[in-house]
Amino acid sequence: MKIHVLLSPLNADELYFTGKTVVVVDVLRATTTIITALKNGAKKITPVESVDFAVKVSGGISGGHTLLAGERNTLMVEGFALGNSPLEFTEEAVKDKSIILFTTNGSKAIVRAKFAENLLIASFNNVSAIANRLAELGNDVEILCAGSNGMFCVEDTVCAGWIISAIQEKTEDVELSDSAKASLVLKKHFGKRILKMLKDSEHGQLLIGNGFEEDLKVAAEVDSTDLVPVYVQGEIIAPDFSGSKKSKPEKK
Ligand code: MLT
Repeated sequence: MKIHVLLSPLNADELYFTGKTVVVVDVLRATTTIITALKNGAKKITPVESVDFAVKVSGGISGGHTLLAGERNTLMVEGFALGNSPLEFTEEAVKDKSIILFTTNGSKAIVRAKFAENLLIASFNNVSAIANRLAELGNDVEILCAGSNGMFCVEDTVCAGWIISAIQEKTEDVELSDSAKASLVLKKHFGKRILKMLKDSEHGQLLIGNGFEEDLKVAAEVDSTDLVPVYVQGEIIAPDFSGSKKSKPEKK
């Protein structure tokens, strides 16, 4: 299995992802929020590339069974039901709801990879579950870090390193690109000090400044869920993969 990490979406157009197995990571905060929403019973999430498109897809309705969610510069878009803080996506708020989500980088990165054969959504919250699924699939993997406006983000790359490390625990047959090796180096550098790394990161600092420090704690939780959200035909859902073939036994 070859693993490559795209440190930002900048150098890959939509066609680059055609037929590939892709994992999108936006630790702060889009993929953390998507995973939280599904964990709390959201039916599905439709990621979109613009606020206008979000409103169009919702048919102008936000409330009832469909909720518009998302942020601009980390703050809730005016008129939307929810922002992009995982703490807003409680069971009470999202159970059985369909959510249309716009975020500055994360939702766009997911849509950019829409031609992937398998498109998985990851954060620190589901590292092991993602690694298990990737080992089951056995395909080459592209980990797409959402980054920030086309730039590198440390937190996404460290999370990519965690996913690679977890895959290496499952299978010996792994070949790493230079960026995948660099992600592993960063993972080893920070070790378990994930919350500190998030607090020191540029986006972490912005979130703290805007009153979202508690979100970093949610984002820093490793393996808080077994969910493996997948993007299928425009929607993110969390299928039950427990019936699929067992992953290879762990390396001793
Ligand atoms: C993004 O997609 O850029 C982020 O999730 C921004 C945020 O809400 O922190």
